[in-house]
Order: sequence, then structure tokens, then C-alpha cells
Amino acid sequence: MRSPLVELFLLLARRFPIPGAYSSNVGIWLKFEVVLLFRTITPNGVTVRSESMPGRRKQRAHIKFTLNGEQTEVAFAPHKTLLEVVREDLGLTGTKHGCELGECGVCTVLVDGQPVLSCLFLGLDAEGRDVTTIEGMAEGGQLHPLQETFADLGAAQCGYCTPAFLLVAKELLEKNVNASREEIKEALAGNLCRCTGYIKIYEAVEWAAARMRGEHTEPAHESIYGFDV
Ligand code: FES
Ligand code: FES
Repeated sequence: MRSPLVELFLLLARRFPIPGAYSSNVGIWLKFEVVLLFRTITPNGVTVRSESMPGRRKQRAHIKFTLNGEQTEVAFAPHKTLLEVVREDLGLTGTKHGCELGECGVCTVLVDGQPVLSCLFLGLDAEGRDVTTIEGMAEGGQLHPLQETFADLGAAQCGYCTPAFLLVAKELLEKNVNASREEIKEALAGNLCRCTGYIKIYEAVEWAAARMRGEHTEPAHESIYGFDV
């Protein structure tokens, strides 16, 4: 039996959830503090258990969700972000760790098909959701057209930003395979690249879109070989 105060909190939390994506770190810490305070059930219904370890007690949250098309269960410290859960507890290191402030975009994954900054998304909030990371982009050993055009056009140099660009572009082209250069720029505006520059990336997205539309186009000669001097 929960106390009336806990019931009131759960009611308010369900009625006015703190958005997980693109929210501030304040929101994450607020939720974490609430988890610690009530210890048992978080607003989205995830159970957090205390586990006794030799000499200490440790809290673990257990969630079930779909990860890259597969039903997945994972236990982790309840304060962890989705970025940390995916990389540290599930071993999928394709999602990159950057600023942790919601500014660089390298940690982007898709949650229910929408781009989400996983450094600002509490792992607990993945309960019951459908999460796609870069490891889930190729299907049946076949690269996604975006992966092919990024590779063919040299739209990645160090590659650190690339998984996030690919996932954001995938969501864009699924929504609008005829996206204009301006729409591509707008969709990718939250992702930073320190080495390639953005033109190759935009061209790679346009080329992938053309392939997805069934058109057999090639990028301009200069895009691949540069200008003759
Ligand atoms: S690491 Fe998430 S936005 Fe930079
Ligand atoms: S390819 Fe190096 S940061 Fe984008």
C-alpha cells in the first residue's frame, strides 16, 4: 500500500511527464531523485530493486524494450541515461558519447522512430519503447542506402558523428524521400561534424534518397574526385 503522497506524485508524474528527449539535465536529475526517494516504482511503472552486494546495497532498474527489432531486457543503475545503458550495459558502442549536454547530437538514437538525444534520455524511459541504434540500421546483412552513399561519397572521415547523422537522415527519408536540400539541412542541424564538412553529408543524403526513389543517378564528378586544377 503506497502512501497518499506517493500516489499523488505518481498521478502528477503520469499527468505531466517530464519529456525524456531534448529535455534538460535538470529533468533527468529530477526524475532520478524521485526514483531514489520512492525507491520502488518510477512514474512509467519500472521497478527499481535494491540488491544486496557484499558490504553494500545497490539499486538496479529492470526494463524490457525493443532494441534493433529484438525484445531486450536489461538491468542497470537507475540514474543512467539511455546512452550509458546502450553502450555500457548492452555493449553497443556505435552510439557515440560527446558533450552530454544536448549540443553535439552524436548520441542520437531513434526512439519509436523519432531522433532522440540519448545523453538526455533516462534509460528508465525506454521501458516498452522501440529503440534503434546504428547497429540496427543494416538489414539482413544489407547496408541501408544511406550507409552506402556515405561510404561511396566520403561523407565520413573520422566517423565519430556518422552514426547519428545516418539515423537522423533515415528518419527524414522515411518521412519524406523527396526532401529538399533545405529540408535535409534543417533535419541535420542538430548534428555537428568536426571533420568532413557538411556538403558531402548533404550530397550523400540526396544520393541515398534518389536510390530509394529508384532513380539511377550518380553524384557530380567533382563530388567524388574534386575539381580539376
Ligand atoms: S552527447 Fe548527446 S548531444 Fe552531445
Ligand atoms: S566525420 Fe569526424 S566528426 Fe564527422
